[in-house]
Amino acid sequence: MGEPTLKEKLEQAKAALEQRTDGFAPEVAIVLGSGLGPLAERIEEPIFVPFGEVPHMRTSTATSHVGRFVFGCLGGKRVVCMQGRLHGYEGYAPQEVAYPIWLMHGLGADALITTNAAGGINERYRVGDFCIMSDQINFTGRNPIVGQEPNEVAFRFFSMYECFDPGLRCVARTVAHEKGISFQEGVYLGLLGPSFETAAEIRAFRMWGADTVAMSVCEEVIAARHVGMRVLGISLVTNMACGVDGANPADDDVLAVAAERSTDFCRLIEGVVTAI
Ligand code: HPA
Repeated sequence: MGEPTLKEKLEQAKAALEQRTDGFAPEVAIVLGSGLGPLAERIEEPIFVPFGEVPHMRTSTATSHVGRFVFGCLGGKRVVCMQGRLHGYEGYAPQEVAYPIWLMHGLGADALITTNAAGGINERYRVGDFCIMSDQINFTGRNPIVGQEPNEVAFRFFSMYECFDPGLRCVARTVAHEKGISFQEGVYLGLLGPSFETAAEIRAFRMWGADTVAMSVCEEVIAARHVGMRVLGISLVTNMACGVDGANPADDDVLAVAAERSTDFCRLIEGVVTAI
């Protein structure tokens, strides 16, 4: 018996999680980015499963990423939440980053809400703004569908047109309006990292039409679209990107801003989960 295939690994992980959660079938999957973990504390009757205990899955090494699944109820829906995520810059292969997305889909989730902390490229944006992703530019140089095995999970050639679901974006806008939470809507550009960008890179990205930048999300969105999930992406602008108004961002800005905006972030996501 050789190494299991990706499909077999996902089946083993699914069986293990179903046993651990008594057959819990989530409707919505949520990925919580840097500093955005507190939403997981609002999940009712939570069941925690550390990533390291899931067959064939890697664990989070990034600061502020707890690194566990939280299964339970939020806003009246069954959710599975990743409190922390896996990033390419941690040294993980694209398929390792995508693995939990495929897994959450396999457990039953047909919608993905992915969130992150991001730098603002658009000069009209302000620190503390939420930004609903309207589209993405995958500038990581990587794609999780490369290779034979993802093609056994689902067909490898699929459209990325409207990769962020227009219906879910509409729900997010409506909920934000109802709750008096202001937001932007723009194009997200994802990089491998872990170094921050140069000012020249940020100027180039602006010319391409990018409004925000960070080191996650793109590979997750590709994996989710690969298996037909509806996707919503929401960034919190924790800093202006390098060189915007003389900004010289570093990691410390991220957590302080996320902590300040945590209440509105939880209200927004919980409202969206209820409404979808
Ligand atoms: N650049 C890259 N990643 C980020 C940033 C940024 O400015 N802010 C938060 N994550």
